[in-house]
Amino acid sequence: MYCVKKITEDMYWIGASDRRLELFENVYPIPKGVSYNSYVILDEKTVLLDTVDHSVCSQFLENLEHVLDGRTLDYIIVNHMEPDHCASLAEVVIRYPEVKFVGNAKTFTMMKQFFDFDVDNRAVVIKEGDTISTGKHTLAFAMIPMVHWPEAMVTYDAYDKVLYSADAFGTFGALNGNIFADELNFEAEWLEEARRYLTNIVGKYGAQVQSALKKAAALDIEMICPLHGPVWRENLGWFIDKYQKWSTYTPEDHAVLIVYASIYGNTESAVNVLAGKISDAGEKNIAMYDVSKTDPSYILAEAFRCDRIVFACPTYNAGLFPKMETLLSELKAHNFQNRKVAVIENGTWAISAGKQMKEILSSMKNMEIYDNTLTVKSSLKRDQMEELDGIVEFLMK
Ligand SMILES: Cc1cc2nc3c(=O)[nH]c(=O)nc-3n(C[C@H](O)[C@H](O)[C@H](O)COP(=O)(O)O)c2cc1C
Ligand SMILES: [Fe+2]
Ligand SMILES: [Fe+2]
Repeated sequence: MYCVKKITEDMYWIGASDRRLELFENVYPIPKGVSYNSYVILDEKTVLLDTVDHSVCSQFLENLEHVLDGRTLDYIIVNHMEPDHCASLAEVVIRYPEVKFVGNAKTFTMMKQFFDFDVDNRAVVIKEGDTISTGKHTLAFAMIPMVHWPEAMVTYDAYDKVLYSADAFGTFGALNGNIFADELNFEAEWLEEARRYLTNIVGKYGAQVQSALKKAAALDIEMICPLHGPVWRENLGWFIDKYQKWSTYTPEDHAVLIVYASIYGNTESAVNVLAGKISDAGEKNIAMYDVSKTDPSYILAEAFRCDRIVFACPTYNAGLFPKMETLLSELKAHNFQNRKVAVIENGTWAISAGKQMKEILSSMKNMEIYDNTLTVKSSLKRDQMEELDGIVEFLMK
């Protein structure tokens, strides 16, 4: 059965959600599912903005057919060529062979790589600032390279004052009937997943997100229609401010994050003592994660949120415990920067974890690293309390 949402007088959401998929991009856990959004404008011309992932293709095709109600499809605007939005293009072409694709030069290079259908005879190649009139609506295009692929662009409809923002302003999480962010308790129930989505997927490209935000600031936007998660029509400034922070590697909260690895529990015990001391010093906002238990995507998002971080890790085969090494290299790969950090190492015979953690951390930009690595030899000793106090002082000053 079709399942669509009317958004404006002549614009509809025709996407669908997947609650079965375990891993988005086969790497990020999505316990709350994900939505693939697609929109249709019914003007003198009919316009489809992006398609959906394969997993929800049949639902999407039913939605499309219902909304078109016997009309043909004139245009598909391809804001992003990644298969989570394009996998269904071929199915649409089979059903609406006269359709024209609107995209930039890079869009069509990629389209030919992914598909065998005739692209050239259907391509309407646009560039930054070009417009297309569909009747009442005039659609303008702006490039947002690397948010999250090189060909990514956004479409602005001046008639509805809607920004079709591609992956920008998206979030993990299936849509459960409500389509607008203002119908949800977004801050309590969605923000964490929005942060995990943005920081993990485009966290590396803060500068490119910044230039996309600058382009958006020049437009009169009343509604943001992203390709994942709810549509924004209220409180846009609040969400844009979150993007502002994440893309400039500015911490959102004054908070301490403690991340540890531990095989036998001694490193864990040391950070438990440390956390208690941080609390005694007046800190209210402390988060703590075991790298073996929590997927790195959650910890990376927490690192983007918090302004101070403690990394604690045993030495493992003369290196770092592998899951800590993964987390640190993920942070580095995401261009993570601008934090105050302290390091705790453990080992039983040749301890080198601290040095190795500091090497990675000091290769990141603008990191204030506490000089005195705390070295735990197998287990924390009573005479090391002052060293712990030193870490607390560093974090709290
Ligand atoms: C597979 C393996 C390799 C290890 N390699 C080293 C090492 O190279 N150097 C070292 O000092 N300790 C090494 N250790 C010992 C641990 O770092 C040490 O026992 C530490 O105290 C464990 O802390 P935990 O109680 O938090 O797990 C290794 C332990 C294991 C299980
Ligand atoms: Fe994408
Ligand atoms: Fe996407």
